[in-house]
Amino acid sequence: MMQFCILTKNLRYLCISLLMLPLFTSAKTCLIFGAKGWIGKKLVAIIQDRGDTVICAASRLEQREAIIQEIITADPDYIINSAGIIGRPNVNWCEDHKQETIRSNVLGLLNLVDIAYLHGIHVTNIATGCIYTYDTNHPMGSGIAFTEEEAPNFGGSFYSHTKILVEKLICEYPNLLQLRVRLPIASDLSTNSFVGKIIQYKKLVNIPNSMSILEDLLPLVPQMIDRNLTGIYNFVNPGTLSHNEVIELYKQYINPLHTYENFSIEEQNELLKVPRSHCHLSANKLLREFPDVPNLKDSIHKIFLAMKQNVQ
Ligand SMILES: NC(=O)c1ccc[n+]([C@@H]2O[C@H](COP(=O)([O-])OP(=O)(O)OC[C@H]3O[C@@H](n4cnc5c(N)ncnc54)[C@H](OP(=O)(O)O)[C@@H]3O)[C@@H](O)[C@H]2O)c1
Repeated sequence: MMQFCILTKNLRYLCISLLMLPLFTSAKTCLIFGAKGWIGKKLVAIIQDRGDTVICAASRLEQREAIIQEIITADPDYIINSAGIIGRPNVNWCEDHKQETIRSNVLGLLNLVDIAYLHGIHVTNIATGCIYTYDTNHPMGSGIAFTEEEAPNFGGSFYSHTKILVEKLICEYPNLLQLRVRLPIASDLSTNSFVGKIIQYKKLVNIPNSMSILEDLLPLVPQMIDRNLTGIYNFVNPGTLSHNEVIELYKQYINPLHTYENFSIEEQNELLKVPRSHCHLSANKLLREFPDVPNLKDSIHKIFLAMKQNVQ
């Protein structure tokens, strides 16, 4: 009887161990493009932290043969693309460098997604939500937000124009997860971030906008990949913040001596030469997967507190 009990106990451990096996052997290999960029570096850290192997792609997005070779060598379980041209010092650059912008953001991205499809690999693309603008059906301040099903309505800058064109095409691929980031904020003061950008301007418009708090959202990327999610997601926190709300928090937490003035959209358009997107994107689809994504107005304080620690 005693021997029977030990046997069943051992069997039970064996079964539990076999059931647990996938948990311990689930480390995957990620091939990432744009790993040296601002968002790419944060993604690399998150993916390494969870124990996956990260391989930083050496090839450019438009180099088809080189990408195929990298995929054959790396044999990745999934691919992330955080590479792309954002324009320096801002998107105005794309107006004067249209062919370079098309090469990376349209040809290159299409190329990568197509190759991943041919190899049966899930690919996550870090995209932009700057492809909408308030209109009569979504008036500013109304709380009526653009959903993923609604067609983009802002192609006012060449950058946004190319992002709309390429999104329409790559979304025909069933292996694609398209994450639309907007005015990203993190607890650093990178000039790529919304805060890092607006503190450089003496004059600001004051418009409520959707924003992406990267500390809240980027950790969801591996979970979305694990769930094999595909299609478009507005990758934003729920709610909106205005320029003044953000800059006042910057003054409160980081630099009380900072000064700025407000001006109208018309004055801004005249100064910048190229209009900018201002919109409220719905986070409901993301919230259905991750109900705990915090509201922008709640989360922003935590980010400025962390920023205060980081910049001191
Ligand atoms: N930052 C934002 O405000 C923002 C907002 C919404 C969406 N996004 C999207 O998020 C992505 C990453 O943005 P980020 O802020 O991390 O920009 P980033 O710091 O400029 O990083 C982009 C990276 O992409 C690489 N890259 C550019 N063209 C490439 C190509 N053809 N092939 C391979 N690599 C290429 C760049 O490398 P090289 O320097 O060597 O070219 C750079 O390391 C972009 O696609 C952007 O559209 C950004």
